[in-house]
Amino acid sequence: MGMKIAIGGKGGVGKTTVCSVWAHLFAREGYDVLAIDADPSLSLGAAFGLPAERTPKPLIEMKDLIAERTGMRKDALGAYFRLNPAVSDLPEEHWLEVNNVKLLVLGAVTQAGGGCACPEGAFLKALLSHTILQRDELVLVDLAAGVEFMGRASVQGIDAFVVVVEPGSRSIETAGNIAGMARDLGIGTVGAVANKVTELTELDVIRSRLNGVPLLGSVAYSKSIQEADLQRTAVMQADAAAVHALNQARHRLTELVKNVEVVGQSRNLHGAE
Ligand SMILES: Nc1ncnc2c1ncn2[C@@H]1O[C@H](COP(=O)(O)OP(=O)(O)OP(=O)(O)O)[C@@H](O)[C@H]1O
Ligand SMILES: [Mg+2]
Repeated sequence: MGMKIAIGGKGGVGKTTVCSVWAHLFAREGYDVLAIDADPSLSLGAAFGLPAERTPKPLIEMKDLIAERTGMRKDALGAYFRLNPAVSDLPEEHWLEVNNVKLLVLGAVTQAGGGCACPEGAFLKALLSHTILQRDELVLVDLAAGVEFMGRASVQGIDAFVVVVEPGSRSIETAGNIAGMARDLGIGTVGAVANKVTELTELDVIRSRLNGVPLLGSVAYSKSIQEADLQRTAVMQADAAAVHALNQARHRLTELVKNVEVVGQSRNLHGAE
């Protein structure tokens, strides 16, 4: 089964940028990649360089489909819906293949608290669980913030949680908090990528405040990346140095994940926990 990687961090730090570049780098190496946009700002398609009219409509907006799958009904006493709707046929039907990457646009429930007791929430949770626990592809999830709304089983199915962090106190704090939560929830590998870095000293500050979360790599602030967003062209083509830096970070991440797997296997062999 392919690796499952979730990417989080404070708003605007570069989660979608990292996700789109990694998706294409993994695909270029021959991996079967499923990239999931689970972000309310829905910008993964744009980061892939897709024009707005070609970007798939987010599943969260498909009211009829959600009502059908969750069996939603209302009566005088309230609304009823299934908490575990069947969704396993949906990725194939709704993804769009772009440069060998399957892009699945889910969207997100934007209410405070990162989730809601509503049919849309149950539907998204079911789709994320399915893609993380049951699919063979290497899955990259572009997340709105953290993993709190995902449900314990699917969170534990994530091999790596990556927080993107920019040189700024709030971003570093958010990264530390999300990373801590990811570790507490039992995710094997947690790492950080520093983005929009303008000076090396910023990296020291970031490193010292990440509570032991390993820094996988850093990407310099880049006018070309900004410009790519403005022009809606692919980030992958915007800045070779940034792609190179993200490729190194990706290699570090896969090494860390492999090490966790090896330790896990030897623990099993020795009958330990
Ligand atoms: N290294 C960089 N240098 C300059 N600009 C960057 C860099 N990385 C990302 N950006 C720009 O910063 C903005 C936010 O990036 P991105 O959309 O990847 O962040 P995000 O964390 O996914 O945001 P959101 O929380 O809104 O989903 C975009 O305009 C993007 O082009
Ligand atoms: Mg984003």
